[in-house]
Amino acid sequence: MKGPLLLILTILLNTQFGGAVHSSCTYSPHKWCSSLGSAIKCGVFKQCLESNFTRSHDSVDKVEVALYYESLCPGCRNFFVFSLFPTWLMLADIMTVTLVPYGNAQEKNVTGKYVFECQHGKEECLGNLIETCLLNMTDLAIPMIFCMESSTDVINNGQMCTKLYKPDLNWGDVMKCVNGDQGNQLMHQNALKTKALNPPHDYVPWVTINGEHTEDLQEKAMNSLFNLVCSLYKGKKPPACGGKQKHFKSLCHNE
Ligand SMILES: *[C@@H]1O[C@H](CO)[C@@H](O)[C@H](O)[C@H]1NC(C)=O
Ligand SMILES: *[C@@H]1O[C@H](CO)[C@@H](O)[C@H](O)[C@H]1NC(C)=O
Ligand SMILES: *[C@@H]1O[C@H](CO)[C@@H](O)[C@H](O)[C@H]1NC(C)=O
Repeated sequence: MKGPLLLILTILLNTQFGGAVHSSCTYSPHKWCSSLGSAIKCGVFKQCLESNFTRSHDSVDKVEVALYYESLCPGCRNFFVFSLFPTWLMLADIMTVTLVPYGNAQEKNVTGKYVFECQHGKEECLGNLIETCLLNMTDLAIPMIFCMESSTDVINNGQMCTKLYKPDLNWGDVMKCVNGDQGNQLMHQNALKTKALNPPHDYVPWVTINGEHTEDLQEKAMNSLFNLVCSLYKGKKPPACGGKQKHFKSLCHNE
């Protein structure tokens, strides 16, 4: 599935950074949110995300994917940007994503306030906190975090990435969470969730599927999360899960 994943990612990045994709919108307005493709082509991706176009119509349990990670860990960024996020874009109907930014950080309880030390330093602690606060404050946190993690300067792009998807979310409020008790408590919750992992994590990115971690699941998630989610979903497979690969291959033949 590498081809289609990268294609969607490219379209999405073009949309994010001002590419002229809107001219490719050939759908009438009531169809704009009918699929991810039309939403992106018509430049209404974030509006459609806010509505329900990705919700499942089916009562079968979604595949629960949780990622325990650190905001500046290169392996985590790669996995999130090139695998988890594009998989979620295509399979949001049949999967849920939980992000727990903490990873190999340490916490100390200093007179009631938690003090954190992060593997990649203070900057990483700040990145983890921004992402944690966004996850608490908006349903659009996942694309915002994608925007941050896919850029060269994860932390300094936080404000731009927030504005991009939710112009009315005040950056001052995000920073108030980051610097205040709420962010401190939310990060402590991340610490508790991470410490509760069974088996305990010994590296990041660390993935659980339906709450479970095994070496086999981790390896499959790293190799192709997309195929893993499709194969584990027990309901009727969405069109993205089948046939697509062949279709894309047939478009690439050499004349
Ligand atoms: C989304 O779904 C919920 C319940 O499933 C409903 O209450 C809400 O109105 C829907 N929103 C839109 C924009 O359709
Ligand atoms: C941290 O300290 C506060 C107040 O000093 C206390 O209420 C809380 O239980 C402590 N938490 C832990 C995990 O020790
Ligand atoms: C945000 O955090 C508060 C606790 O600080 C919690 O009560 C609330 O449920 C959280 N909201 C979301 C959407 O996670």
